[in-house]
Amino acid sequence: MQQPVRIAPSILSADFARLGEEIRALEAAGADYIHIDVMDGHFVPNITVGPMVVKALRPHTRLTFDVHLMISPVDPMLDAFAEAGADILTVHPEAGPHVHRTIQRIKALGLRAGASLNPGTPAKMLDYILEELDLVLVMSVNPGFGGQSFIDSQLRKIEALRKSIDKTGKTIDLEVDGGIDAVTATRAIAAGADVLVAGTATFKGGDYAANIARLRGN
Ligand code: DX5
Ligand code: ZN
Repeated sequence: MQQPVRIAPSILSADFARLGEEIRALEAAGADYIHIDVMDGHFVPNITVGPMVVKALRPHTRLTFDVHLMISPVDPMLDAFAEAGADILTVHPEAGPHVHRTIQRIKALGLRAGASLNPGTPAKMLDYILEELDLVLVMSVNPGFGGQSFIDSQLRKIEALRKSIDKTGKTIDLEVDGGIDAVTATRAIAAGADVLVAGTATFKGGDYAANIARLRGN
């Protein structure tokens, strides 16, 4: 069942020189999750942060750390992100040869496990692991950069996944990431999403609370 909407600001659009402060400001502004985009310059054409930064940020908030791993191979890094204080680890099925094993490992570490689908990756990629997941992340842009435009075709994928998730009878977050603003947020929620990642739209203009409220539809 679709849950109440939660907002997951992506720190990709934060001031990286003041990340701790930025995260505290996001918590005060009403964020639900902190979305941390981990990029390796190999799986995606950009490099961001690793477990050391996650660990340094951990004391700054009690909010859920929603860590989006855009790295390959991903398996050798799972333990380090768990130790650093991640709450959710989301992986792309293309980032390793055995996604089922990767998901099991994340769960064995005591974390919530997510799987993410690139715009070109079909929903059916998750058919045989869906019941194992705590979160499905639909990429509505090609991963690597903030500030890109929402790809409309992903709404159909969200609709299809909403149905598949509901069929499991389990509570699995359906998160959408990329090009989310007040308009695309409404469309993604209508399609069945219940967690919205937003980088640009959260940080734009500096009033994080107003921006987050707008994404919720307030
Ligand atoms: C892109 C990242 C996103 C990104 C979203 O690879 O996964 O989380 O920060 O940025 P906006 O909201 O600006 O599209
Ligand atoms: Zn992301």
